[in-house]
Amino acid sequence: MLQVFRTDGYAVLPQRFTEDALEDLRAEADRLIRRFTQDGFRSDDYWHFTPAGTNAPVLYRIHNLEDQGSPAVTRLYADGGPLHPMAASVLDGPVRATACALIVKLPRVAAPVPWHRDRTNVPPHTVCNLSVFLDDSDADNGCLEFVPGSHLSPDDEEADELQVRGPVHALPLTAGDTAIHDVRIAHASRRNCSPRIRRSIVIEFAPADLELP
Ligand code: NI
Repeated sequence: MLQVFRTDGYAVLPQRFTEDALEDLRAEADRLIRRFTQDGFRSDDYWHFTPAGTNAPVLYRIHNLEDQGSPAVTRLYADGGPLHPMAASVLDGPVRATACALIVKLPRVAAPVPWHRDRTNVPPHTVCNLSVFLDDSDADNGCLEFVPGSHLSPDDEEADELQVRGPVHALPLTAGDTAIHDVRIAHASRRNCSPRIRRSIVIEFAPADLELP
């Protein structure tokens, strides 16, 4: 797995969570999503867009997720959380969590996430994102796509150029799987054309002693 992460820039850690732990995370995610969709709650942390020709805002990301009053999520982010040893093993040293968000792809309405690189201001194999999947994810409901090896490309290469050169690998996952990717890799995710929601919790990890640029 470590070798795959270094050469391809991403890897899968299958089934590291119990069903009980997943249920707690799903319940917290649903409560936050309902605040937006049912209660009309809005904040700078709740990222949304309004599709052309509608007046119905579509939630796609809840930022600063560790600060939203959700204890199971906050435990994932806090020092000593269950993801920390996974990140420490791939980054080969002590780590700290540096960002946390809920990615939501609501059934039928979720837009694709365009090709991008999360960061190119750190060297390869230095900072990674771990994504815990709360739902099965496939091509129909917006699974992740990567250009393997693109984390090794120069800092100024645009994700779009890397995608054109390819190859593009789609990464279907099962609920409970954790995807890990180098923040430098070119990646995207598809539209959700299905009736199935797709939720993931993404946490960025950096070396404990590194001040992020
Ligand atoms: Ni990203």
